[in-house]
Order: sequence, then C-alpha cells, then structure tokens
Amino acid sequence: MKKPINGLSVFLSGSQETKAILFVHGFPFDHHMWDVQIDELSKNHFCVTYDIRGLGESAVGDGQFTMESFVDDLEKILEDLKLDKPILCGLSMGGYISLRAAERMRDKFSALILCDTKSAADDNEGKVKRAAAIQQINSGGFENFIESFVLNCFGEKFVNENNAEYRKVVDRSKKNNPLGVKGCLLAMAGRTDTTEKLSGINIPALIICGSEDKLSPPNVMKPIAEKIPNSKFVLVENAGHMTPIENPVKLNSVIKDFLIHNNL
Ligand code: MLT
Repeated sequence: MKKPINGLSVFLSGSQETKAILFVHGFPFDHHMWDVQIDELSKNHFCVTYDIRGLGESAVGDGQFTMESFVDDLEKILEDLKLDKPILCGLSMGGYISLRAAERMRDKFSALILCDTKSAADDNEGKVKRAAAIQQINSGGFENFIESFVLNCFGEKFVNENNAEYRKVVDRSKKNNPLGVKGCLLAMAGRTDTTEKLSGINIPALIICGSEDKLSPPNVMKPIAEKIPNSKFVLVENAGHMTPIENPVKLNSVIKDFLIHNNL
C-alpha cells in the first residue's frame, strides 16, 4: 500500500501489529532497492520504505536538501505512522540518513542495520567529485553520470550475469529528476561525520558489507562495527555496493538471523 506523507511516497507491507522495519534506500535509487527484502520480511514484520525526497516518486520541490532535512523527513514518517521503536535499515546514503537519525533521535529505534555505508563525511576529494558530478549533469550529461555511477555500485559478475536486472536499475535511476539528484549530491557533500557518535549507539547493530563493494569497502565498514558496542559485522560474498539486489538471499538470511537473535 502506498501512503503519501509530507510530499514523500511511503510504501507499507505486512501487518501493522508486528514490529516495524524502516528501510532507507541509497543514491541514486528508490524504494525498489528493497523489493526482495520486503517480500520476505513482511511475513513477520511491518515493512515501511519510501523514496527519499528528490528521488523516485517523491516530491523534488526546489531541490535544496540537506542531510538534516532528510532526517526531518524520516522523523515525519515515524510520527505519521506512529511507529514504535522500529528497526532502522539504511544502505549507503540511506545509511548516512540512518546514522544521523540514530544520533539525533537516540531512543526512537530498537536496532540499526547498516548496509554498505560510511560514518565519515566526504573528504576534499569526495567533495570535488560531487561538484564534478553536478557540473556533468548541468552540461547535459545526466544519463552518462547515472550510467557510470551505477556501474561502479555493482560487482562485475552481477553486471555480466544478470544484465537485464542491472539495466532495470540503471533505467529506473535515469527516470529521476536531475534537480533531485543534484540536491542529493549537495546534501551528501554537506553531511556531518557521525564516527565519533558510533560508540554511543546503545542498540543492537548489524553491519553488512558486500565483499566487492568499491564505495564503502570492508576496510571502511569493519571499523564501524568495531566502534558500536553491540554490533555484528557480516561480509556478504558475491556482492558489491548493492547487497540487497546482488545477493538478496544471503542478505535476507543474515537479517532474519539478526532479528531472531535479538528477539525483534
Ligand atoms: C549510495 O549508494 O547511496 C551512494 O554511493 C552514496 C555516496 O555517493 O556517497
């Protein structure tokens, strides 16, 4: 079921009587990133996902976003749906939003699942890359930007062996409004560094990394798990940055084990 909340397209699956999981997708994708997880996990959990403002079916508005406004959006969803301490699950940009949400709203979640993400803010090189991406889009290179960015997100094996599925993701990403995509790039470039707050996360955390992730590789993600007191690090083989799409069977079983182990 789709529910509009504050200009965002929010998607609900499963029984509202069960524990909620709130899924936050990565850039430049949309809620479909979590389709396979939601099919499986909605059997026992109330699964909520949405399109981040500026992407997918959500409003673009003036395209001026910050990581803080993305967290404000997430908070509005929690309030509107009256979610009682959901499990928060974010991938990459969705992980940046989740980490900042966990920092800003310490008591609002019962567990955190971080897939293929970072706690560090963009360094100078990263900021210059964001600027180059915006310049490329402004000079008519939106589709080329999407092609090369999305290619880098996937492991080579998946692109070769599951090309039709890969192309679907690329083509859907190209449907995004360039203004929304640029707004996300600026929001990511301006985000805070959440590393110092990791040791204060006092809920169970599952940290997942695709073994071939080039954007947030295992050597970046393992230290996140080491800093969060009650956390578990899992390396997912045969996956790059897009574990929910590249190895959904393994990801689902890792998440299910985590939920069972923590009585969630
Ligand atoms: C994502 O998948 O959300 C992006 O790779 C995040 C980023 O560009 O930092």
